[in-house]
Amino acid sequence: MTAHVARVLALDHTGVLGGAELSMLDVTAGLGGDVTVRLFADGPFREALQRRGVDVQVLPMGALGGVRKGSLVPSPRALLAAWRLAGDVAREARTARTVRVLYANSEKAFVVAALAAGRCGLPAVWHLRDLLGPPHFSRLNTRGVVTLANWRATRVIANSQATADAFVASGGARDVVRVVHNGIDTAPYDAVTDASAHALRECVSPGAAHVMAVFGRLHAWKGQHVAINALAQLPGDCHLWIVGAPLFGEDDFAAGLRAQVERLGLASRVHFLGFRNDVAALMRAADVVVHASTLPEPFGRVLVEGMLARRPVIATAAGGVREILTDGSTGVLVPPGDAAALARAVSALRADPPRAAAIAQAGADHARRAFGVAAMVRGVRAVLDEVAG
Ligand code: UDP
Ligand code: GLC
Repeated sequence: MTAHVARVLALDHTGVLGGAELSMLDVTAGLGGDVTVRLFADGPFREALQRRGVDVQVLPMGALGGVRKGSLVPSPRALLAAWRLAGDVAREARTARTVRVLYANSEKAFVVAALAAGRCGLPAVWHLRDLLGPPHFSRLNTRGVVTLANWRATRVIANSQATADAFVASGGARDVVRVVHNGIDTAPYDAVTDASAHALRECVSPGAAHVMAVFGRLHAWKGQHVAINALAQLPGDCHLWIVGAPLFGEDDFAAGLRAQVERLGLASRVHFLGFRNDVAALMRAADVVVHASTLPEPFGRVLVEGMLARRPVIATAAGGVREILTDGSTGVLVPPGDAAALARAVSALRADPPRAAAIAQAGADHARRAFGVAAMVRGVRAVLDEVAG
């Protein structure tokens, strides 16, 4: 039924649950019946949207699925697939007569929305969650998508000031950009008890004296290999939890991590937990939450989550990270890709429990104040309202 009243046709290219999708889940659930979602692939994201009562259907993307993020130029087959998909989207928008705006949540979704916008006469809004330009994206890819944005994006919502700045530095029009930080639902964090966290810890790492944990999809730039190298420099009673899965086909990188652990003789201290739905409990069960991205992070939901879990967060100082925590007060910053610095930061917090507790508490207070879901939904709704008229 919601499809008949929705003003917003929201698009995302994937069915997996990455950070962009988890964020869109809260945004679209917050917009309620005002939104209908089309995904270009099926998967757990579709199921999660349905569980939250969001109207969602899948429009398969065909050859567009073969284009990798940041790849040089899409093939003619992929471009044709994008054009066809844009035709499907334009048709859907026209059929659902109430739709007033196309809202794209990823680069691929934006390309399709931009091509569809002209065909159905609707404005397009791009929720930009990536740092455009090298090193994440090739110059050609960036130039293509920024040209499309300057032509067709009525508004670009950036998930951080860093993301907004990278868009503008890549030639994107400054006046269309609005920054809306991610908001994280506090309910799962409020629900974790010390007893349940303790039981979980004993189940995963029985007897470990100290646990550092990294959360996120397994991918070279997320830096799980750096966390493993840091662990190798820490005492034998310190364990590492690697939480997450290779969501976008990075199986070789995941296999490489396991080989690295074997090579370093760390098999009994590193625990690969795969993709988990109990991140809040796992964070609370660890001693320290580590963010190890080797490239600038556009935002980094895991930082806010670690803060909400009342754990000290150690993060790499680049991209949107500095907008989330302040070194020495609400978290600890280390240089990206520096395993020795990471190991030193973990040791320093372990050696000074009052400091670790103070940072954790200040981080939790700040995360609650600055990164609420309601504020995020309000921010996105304001942009969509402005555009939808
Ligand atoms: N996440 C999860 N289960 C896992 C690993 C990660 O639910 O096993 C979630 C994590 O809690 C966070 C998101 O995935 O909300 C990752 O978002 P982030 O912004 O940190 O990075 P992204 O993957 O979007 O670049
Ligand atoms: C993207 C970014 C990540 C951000 C997330 C939600 O996946 O890589 O940094 O937190 O989107 O906006």
